[in-house]
Amino acid sequence: MAHKLELKIIVDVFTTASELPPDEQNLLTNAQAASRQAYAPYSGFLVGAALLLEDGTTHWGNNQENAAYPSGLCAERTALFGLRAQNKNKKIIKIAVTAHRNGTDGFVAALPCGACRQVMAEYENLQEAPIMVLMQADNGQVYRCDSVSALLPLQFSKENLGL
Ligand code: THU
Repeated sequence: MAHKLELKIIVDVFTTASELPPDEQNLLTNAQAASRQAYAPYSGFLVGAALLLEDGTTHWGNNQENAAYPSGLCAERTALFGLRAQNKNKKIIKIAVTAHRNGTDGFVAALPCGACRQVMAEYENLQEAPIMVLMQADNGQVYRCDSVSALLPLQFSKENLGL
């Protein structure tokens, strides 16, 4: 007899970014700065992602679009692939993601898409340590999830390939 398996995603909800600890406020500010340098002329939706590494340094990415639409890439993956391409040994402690619409000042919800969650999960599994995810949410709120695995239940991983 089938039964229901309930899977929950639990996030901490902050009413404003000012409620976050200083390192997380700083990371969110870095993500906002990254979003200002996004190349998103087609969607007008500029996304920034900032990674806090174990040595205290940060690494940025932003979405890069293309006239051939699917050729572009999200901010999170631009950041993660760029980091991995340059330095594969530094653990990622936290990632912050934020977005704004072209021509507007306020930041809007930036919830990582499924493909970006999958890529984040790959690196979290590889480093065998959680990556905390900070997401700009609506109305100035910030959502914080303790790990990527908590944000992506039932994830596909190398174990599914028998590796
Ligand atoms: N985008 C991101 O950069 N990250 C996400 O997680 C969701 C979407 C970008 C892709 C595209 O350039 C624009 O936002 C509109 O979808």
